[in-house]
Amino acid sequence: MESYVSFVKELVDQGGPVSGDFNALDNAFRSVAGFIKNSTSPAAHAQMMRDALGEAMSPETIQGYGFLKPYGYSGDFQMIDKIYQQQVSDRADLKNWDLFFHAQKAPIAVRNRKQYFIDMLTRLRRRFEDRELQVLNVASGPCRDVKEYLHQSGDSRIHFHCVDADPHAIAYARETCRHQRHQMTFYHKNALRFRSADRFDLVWSAGLLDYFTDRQFIFLIKNLYRHLRDDAELIVGNFHPDNPSRDYMELIGDWHLNYRSEHDLIDIARQAGFGLNDIRIGAERENVNLFLHLKQGPTFL
Ligand SMILES: C[S@@+](CC[C@H](N)C(=O)[O-])C[C@H]1O[C@@H](n2cnc3c(N)ncnc32)[C@H](O)[C@@H]1O
Repeated sequence: MESYVSFVKELVDQGGPVSGDFNALDNAFRSVAGFIKNSTSPAAHAQMMRDALGEAMSPETIQGYGFLKPYGYSGDFQMIDKIYQQQVSDRADLKNWDLFFHAQKAPIAVRNRKQYFIDMLTRLRRRFEDRELQVLNVASGPCRDVKEYLHQSGDSRIHFHCVDADPHAIAYARETCRHQRHQMTFYHKNALRFRSADRFDLVWSAGLLDYFTDRQFIFLIKNLYRHLRDDAELIVGNFHPDNPSRDYMELIGDWHLNYRSEHDLIDIARQAGFGLNDIRIGAERENVNLFLHLKQGPTFL
């Protein structure tokens, strides 16, 4: 443990890790996380590691922001938008920590999932070229994905219904998407309580189910599926247990997820009553963020 603490302190003194240090730092976090699992005082050991990081654990860095959780929970809208926008501190002594953060597979997977959503929207538009489309975006966060789709596609005949439990997320997304305001409706609601008389061509949720128990997961997908139109699809994301950034996230960011494999997602969909023909598992390019697709019609998007 002491040697890893010294290593981290050396990196702090040199102004943060440069790319040549990334592997060694990854391995250090992995070794410490392994050590802590068998330790009698895991919290104290994790704190030792965070103390060694000093200012690199302040809200000036993304890892510090992640640990401090200004909105009271992991993965808030600002954190996710920092990831999307690859935000890097202006401070010379801290910026390398942000570069290290963005090089992790988990933030890469988050950026890839924005593209995954945009790809699904593009396919949906190709399937129904001429008509107005309704998309339900559950746990919509910063809505960077929606903004980028609308900006890139110029699609004026699609409406996004965005549900989020955090009013700060909604205020932030309204501001982010101020130029697309007429194509968006916001609902300040817990996803588990969301009900609507409307029916949707696509229901999308990323970054939410990873925090839910299996019971909540099943309840939510059954409820959301009822909101689909004919020939529509429900797509929900969940991180894979082999997430290579897991130790870093847990040790430094105190960021815990309910990980699920392809098999787990199929199993959960079967428990929710779906037939195998209506279930498909997709993934972004890193294979870290999986997507459970549940279709209503004959073909998947
Ligand atoms: C990790 S962010 C994901 C944002 C967005 N889906 C994305 O991928 O960019 C999670 C969002 O879920 C929201 N959230 C958490 N629990 C929720 C719940 N029970 N119902 C609705 N929104 C929730 C949070 O407020 C936050 O904005």
